[in-house]
Amino acid sequence: MATVARKGKVCVTGAGGFIGSWVVKLLLSREYTVHGTVREPSDAKYDHLRKLEKGTDNLKLFKADLLDYESMRSAIAGCDGVFHVASPVPHTTSSNPETEVIEPAVKGTRNVLEACVDAKVKRVVVVSSVAAVFCNPSWPQGRVIDESCWSDKEYCKATKNWYFLAKTEAESEALEFGRRRGLDVVTICPTLVIGPILQPTVNASSMVLLRILKEGLETLENRPRMLVDVRDVAEALVVLYEKGEAEGRYICTSHTMETRELVDALKKKYPDYSYPKTLSEGNEKAVSLSSEKLQGLGWKCRALEETLADAVKSFKDAGMLE
Ligand SMILES: NC(=O)c1ccc[n+]([C@@H]2O[C@H](COP(=O)([O-])OP(=O)(O)OC[C@H]3O[C@@H](n4cnc5c(N)ncnc54)[C@H](OP(=O)(O)O)[C@@H]3O)[C@@H](O)[C@H]2O)c1
Repeated sequence: MATVARKGKVCVTGAGGFIGSWVVKLLLSREYTVHGTVREPSDAKYDHLRKLEKGTDNLKLFKADLLDYESMRSAIAGCDGVFHVASPVPHTTSSNPETEVIEPAVKGTRNVLEACVDAKVKRVVVVSSVAAVFCNPSWPQGRVIDESCWSDKEYCKATKNWYFLAKTEAESEALEFGRRRGLDVVTICPTLVIGPILQPTVNASSMVLLRILKEGLETLENRPRMLVDVRDVAEALVVLYEKGEAEGRYICTSHTMETRELVDALKKKYPDYSYPKTLSEGNEKAVSLSSEKLQGLGWKCRALEETLADAVKSFKDAGMLE
């Protein structure tokens, strides 16, 4: 019988989160040995990780906080590669953005990268966001946004867009760190990530679908939405890790639509949930983002219908639609 070649050892930061859990699942299925960082390993909210196929044998959880260098160093030691997924993703406007959002994202990324140098990691894939890409009033209107566009930090500050600022600073510093220190750093900038959840808690981006499905809102703002399936994001991370030619940053997006179209698509398939009664017109303009660079590495995305169907099923199974 042919034996499957074992892949190397890699670390996933934020292993128990929405995206992190899917990255861990995919890596285990591809025969990697995984070190996953979580903040409280004994917490039942990480039980789903231990139950993953090959999780018992090939996944080791490490207690680590982004602001604690030693904890990150221990988790990354001995790894060939790192997927830096962890970062605060606030559900609402933060009352103390510097300590709650910016510091863990920026200093946390610095700690992870420093630990990667220490462990002689071959490549680190850093999860940034389109929040670091498109918030730029100088970008010519109507021009397709590609990886050469960066969010304007001063504009993010002026508009109090702290998450955008945090992701922009963390990503630009990460790429600069890589150049300066000779570390192979690749970044990925996903749009709004939706799809089935593995974790038992609700993350901020899944809340976008849950609000539509269950809150029976009087009104919801109609705005442009750029979406990508969480499993396609996980796949993209692995593509960026495995393809030697990957370099720099990669936008990762699949579907652009308005909230109204998203509501209609859900209503058509699941008419019985508590949808918003009306949609109000917002003033946010649609932007056009390109994932061509990522597609050039062979990355593909699934159909929206599949994403929505699997997301709704997972919410139901987790009791989140009651
Ligand atoms: N979801 C989206 O729409 C989207 C879009 C673009 C980019 N992203 C990026 O994708 C990454 C993952 O997001 P997600 O949607 O999966 O969110 P999530 O489910 O909230 O996961 C965030 C993870 O970060 C960890 N974390 C937060 N602060 C930390 C700290 N101080 N030390 C250690 N770990 C910390 C959390 O760990 P605990 O389990 O210990 O709480 C959690 O595992 C983030 O970098 C986010 O910016 C997300």
